[in-house]
Amino acid sequence: MPNTASFLESAVALADAALEQALPSADTAPATLHQAMRYAVFAGGKRIRPALVLAACRACGGSDAACAPAMAAVEMLHTYTLVHDDLPAMDDDDLRRGRPTCHVVYGDATAVLVGDALQTQCFETLAAAGGPAVACLARAAGSRGVIGGQQDDLEAEGSTVDDSPACKARLERIHRGKTAALIRASCELGALAAEASPETVATLGRFGEAAGLAFQVIDDILDTTASVEDLGKTPGKDAACGKLTYVAVYGLEAARAEADRLRDEAVAIAQSFGAGGADLQSLAGFIVDRGY
Ligand code: IPE
Ligand code: IPE
Ligand code: MG
Ligand code: MG
Ligand code: MG
Repeated sequence: MPNTASFLESAVALADAALEQALPSADTAPATLHQAMRYAVFAGGKRIRPALVLAACRACGGSDAACAPAMAAVEMLHTYTLVHDDLPAMDDDDLRRGRPTCHVVYGDATAVLVGDALQTQCFETLAAAGGPAVACLARAAGSRGVIGGQQDDLEAEGSTVDDSPACKARLERIHRGKTAALIRASCELGALAAEASPETVATLGRFGEAAGLAFQVIDDILDTTASVEDLGKTPGKDAACGKLTYVAVYGLEAARAEADRLRDEAVAIAQSFGAGGADLQSLAGFIVDRGY
């Protein structure tokens, strides 16, 4: 789909420019910390979250400039969660975005500080834009959102996997928290940057929730099917760590069917924006097609 490719390309360029502006230069003291922050951020991530901010803002008639701070903010927050997620105390991964993880290169202590600093820079950048965006992102990123999901994910490691309602509910809580919360907030931030009505912000939130759940189902699938070259991270880690994943609970085929269902749900919402929702539709498709 050439339109998706060209939209993503422009979203990556805009996100990188906004990040370049938001992050201290590599020679700012303490230089090691700022180099490490840049090492983690400028490493070829897909920039899906800033792309969603951009697509949501455009769907609501907002300008690209209006949402640039939010684009940088969500990517800094996301990158911080990845740096911490990879630490030995968490998922203990040594490969991310196709290169050695931040803690492998700079040490565990600096990697903790890189995450801390990316998170505070994220909110400084977002606060400069004003409005309700800071509260929106803080709620999504905190203990009832991303961090809560990360705790649930860790506590579920090695738990019994079956098809009981309790196990399925636990899995859904993990996905909603660790991944969908930020993807939802990215869509809401795009709408807020365009000064959309509360109803429209809520509609884009529902789009983001469906797209975000689909994103994590696909991430679980790719861990079992993709190569290290395609992933830029080590596959097979979820099973090795006894993670509670969509594939472990439902199997590959049902996981793909669920991702398709969630994509269709997201696309239907995007269609309600008419031609302005085309990029949102493309992104929902891209998120799921990655898993095939
Ligand atoms: C990986 O996110 C972590 C999850 C929430 C599943 P991405 O797959 O978006 O990682 P990058 O940003 O492209 O590296
Ligand atoms: C990470 O989930 C979610 C966050 C970092 C908030 P995963 O642990 O599944 O992500 P990957 O597979 O390491 O990218
Ligand atoms: Mg994890
Ligand atoms: Mg991980
Ligand atoms: Mg994963």
